[in-house]
Amino acid sequence: MNASPLSPAQTPSDGAGSTLYGGITGRRVTVRDLAAAKQRGERWAMLTAYDSLTAGVFDEAGIPVLLVGDSAGNCALGYETTVPVTMDEMTMLSAAVVRGTKRALIVADLPFGSYQESPAQALRNSARLMKEAGVGAVKLEGGERSAHAIELLVEAGVPVMAHIGLTPQSVHALGGYPVQGRGDEAAHKLLRDAKAVQQAGAFAVVLEAVPAELAAQVTESLTVPTVGIGAGAGCDAQVLVWTDMAGMTAGRVPKFVKQYANLRAVLGDAAREFAADVSGGSFPAAEHTFH
Ligand code: KIV
Repeated sequence: MNASPLSPAQTPSDGAGSTLYGGITGRRVTVRDLAAAKQRGERWAMLTAYDSLTAGVFDEAGIPVLLVGDSAGNCALGYETTVPVTMDEMTMLSAAVVRGTKRALIVADLPFGSYQESPAQALRNSARLMKEAGVGAVKLEGGERSAHAIELLVEAGVPVMAHIGLTPQSVHALGGYPVQGRGDEAAHKLLRDAKAVQQAGAFAVVLEAVPAELAAQVTESLTVPTVGIGAGAGCDAQVLVWTDMAGMTAGRVPKFVKQYANLRAVLGDAAREFAADVSGGSFPAAEHTFH
């Protein structure tokens, strides 16, 4: 097994999305590659994906880690929050993303209610995502409160990405999506959460909606990589929801999102042009027609 990614100077063979791919051929990125990247001080990008086609585009672009986030609830399934997302839905979407990719590490979210009951429940559902969908790791929300589940999963051979700070599955308890870790007490709690999930064996920690200074402090104090979303530039990696990043989301996007494209406008224009061609009789033309 090639366990050591090559130097940051090397670039992926196709796509220029990450130097992490240097020297990795014929296999997927692993959690060991991510640990080695932290050692080298190399930053990497993660995107969400919910279907095979889009995941394939990101895989070819060199995104080393794809998250089948339960943000699929809002971004693909039409729910208002992530709370209604089920294990059946996550398993189907995760399997599609695995099928559409060759190189990225695929991480699947454990949806709300699929791991909080007991560590045994967390293991049962993680095993389902690994066996039925073929993902390489799972993600779950919570710091100290999720440490026992993480410990059991890691012991059983399930790589776990933890998610602390703003945890969207708790939207109803939090009364929305407020920034977390503000003030001394909340900052200490976030640090304790980060240490607890690392101690339990998590291979990476998502920090969501946390002041940049605190996220940088957490990143410094951990040996495993932090993955920031709305957590400033001091994290080891950054994640964005793909529909936000590519301009597919309707309405306002959060302050921490940078839009790299305006796909909603591009697709809308294409659909309008198609409809106009059909009603005007210019499609199909001779070159689109069998005789
Ligand atoms: O579900 C998701 O997309 C996530 C990211 C925001 C980290 O958890």
